Amino acid sequence: MTNDKEPEPTARRGGWRTATETALYGPEGFYRSPEGPAGHFRTSVHASPLYAGAVALLLRRVDDALDHPDELAFVDMGAGRGELTEGVIAALPADVAARVRAYAVERAERPAGLDPRIEWRAAPPGGVTGLLFANEWLDNVPLDVVEVAADGTVRRVLVDTEGRETLGGPVEGADAEWLARWWPLAPEPGLRAEIGLPRDRAWAAAVATLARGVAVAVDYAHQRAARPPFGTLTGFAAGRGTTPVPDGSCDITAHVALDACALDGAAPLTQRAALGALGVSGARPPLSLASSDPAAYVRALTRAGEAAELTASGGLGDFGWLVQPVDLPPDAPLLVDVADHEEE
Ligand SMILES: C[S@@+](CC[C@H](N)C(=O)[O-])C[C@H]1O[C@@H](n2cnc3c(N)ncnc32)[C@H](O)[C@@H]1O
Repeated sequence: MTNDKEPEPTARRGGWRTATETALYGPEGFYRSPEGPAGHFRTSVHASPLYAGAVALLLRRVDDALDHPDELAFVDMGAGRGELTEGVIAALPADVAARVRAYAVERAERPAGLDPRIEWRAAPPGGVTGLLFANEWLDNVPLDVVEVAADGTVRRVLVDTEGRETLGGPVEGADAEWLARWWPLAPEPGLRAEIGLPRDRAWAAAVATLARGVAVAVDYAHQRAARPPFGTLTGFAAGRGTTPVPDGSCDITAHVALDACALDGAAPLTQRAALGALGVSGARPPLSLASSDPAAYVRALTRAGEAAELTASGGLGDFGWLVQPVDLPPDAPLLVDVADHEEE
């Protein structure tokens, strides 16, 4: 439980939202460093090119649903170093790629050597038609942490740049309303929650940039029926989980209340189901292929291993996908037979 006595005097002490904003995106911020996210951890994008292939297939289905517009946008929100955008362009047939306008939206600088067809932007373009895809973006939208104090009140957790926490004032207004609706806390001292309101707003703003198409958010997620009792705020650096210290030395991330982000018409599902519906399968190739075409067998085995990682229970397969159509017919076939893949 957090110390709720008078804090020691210290350089900077505020809520986790402000501290994270500076630690990740300030001039010395974690995400400003040249190595980028891939230098510290592996997302689905880095795990296998099958992921970009599946997103490219989804983009083609969106293209079909939009009846093949002259310009088809692919917006990679929180693009890292543009790896997904490059992979999606590479996986598209030439005639579709020729109509695609690809945007990588990132707070870090454009990396050297990026495909010149990709527009690098600090904010998503407005009024476009196509697919906006946000892989592990929302978990990096900073938020405040709250804790139930000894007297049963819900208080904002304050943190200094060395990661030392104390309790601040009671939570009020829109933040209190969000907690009551999405993450109600029993009056048990020590219980914690993370106020997802900045993420709901960030997601709604990103979706609003689409004139027509589909927006997809993919992230570590939890639902109202099973919020983690002590929250999920954590640090990450050099391939390992660490204590979160908001000094720019590590990523600071918390799982996403994706159900709270969902707008009208959104469909939440697991990555396992979504990728299954996009043809990514961890099934091993038939043994007979090993004798008829050994090279094809080895390639298929590699693909199956990568697909298994992307869809694994207890791993990437448990990630949440929030699929948000914008001005599309409700029966547009985006993720075909998705329910069949939920339990695979
Ligand atoms: C965990 S990384 C994910 C990178 C990439 N999408 C992937 O899956 O490999 C999150 C990225 O989102 C970026 N980001 C966070 N907030 C952003 C914002 N408001 N606009 C643009 N990029 C943002 C960060 O700089 C960081 O590169």
